[in-house]
Amino acid sequence: LIRLAVTNVQFHCCLLRSVPIFTGVRAKMSTQNYIKIGEDDPGYPINMFCVPRHYEEDLEHVLIPAGLINDRTERMARDICSDFKHEAIVALCVLKGGYKFFTDLLDKIKLINRNSGHSVPLSVDFIRLKSYQNDKSTGSIEVIGGDDLESLRGKNVLVVEDIVDTGKTMQQLLNLLHAVNPKCVRVASLLVKRTPRSTGYRPDYTGFEIPDRFVVGYALDYNEYFRDLNHIGVINEQGKKKYAV
Ligand code: HPA
Ligand code: MG
Repeated sequence: LIRLAVTNVQFHCCLLRSVPIFTGVRAKMSTQNYIKIGEDDPGYPINMFCVPRHYEEDLEHVLIPAGLINDRTERMARDICSDFKHEAIVALCVLKGGYKFFTDLLDKIKLINRNSGHSVPLSVDFIRLKSYQNDKSTGSIEVIGGDDLESLRGKNVLVVEDIVDTGKTMQQLLNLLHAVNPKCVRVASLLVKRTPRSTGYRPDYTGFEIPDRFVVGYALDYNEYFRDLNHIGVINEQGKKKYAV
């Protein structure tokens, strides 16, 4: 029974992974294409890194230092470029949390474009969503800004997100996008949370899979705080209380 279940999971993944999204692009079939941060990974002590003084008491530990985010982002950019080949893409930044990953990922793609034989024409678009208050999802997304999605019709869209938590936000966003018939939609998320609340949704490109903790920094916020922290850290109870609304 267990083997059957495992086989089913793999079969399901292969199906998802091998569907050509558009001509010339086929996702690689691979086992684990993200860095997995373990359940009881202690991270790094706050005082081993430069952290703004105003957050020193509000974090449990640093989970992903900025340098590691940078190196992983570089490799994700390479994977994206090799999948999209010469196809033009519209990179869609999911604001606000996605802005750091978006600019850093695009800088890396632009670097590859300047320095390698083939290049991927890039344009950018933005959408602003809100679904979290304190550390809880409000359950439905609200589009509170950005251009008309109609401009994405017929385009290859790369959605760039900071985090896939339950997956509900991304699934709702994908429904909105599919309504305007893009040529293809791919999703790159820096983080994916391992949580029992997950819908099972997985992005096409993932930086890190993280434990079920509320993380902040590198543009991820808690009620708009912590975006000005350059590492990704785990907020502590004091921080949650201090910045609660
Ligand atoms: N941190 C910040 N924003 C989020 C998170 C998180 O852990 N999950 C969903 N949105
Ligand atoms: Mg987000």
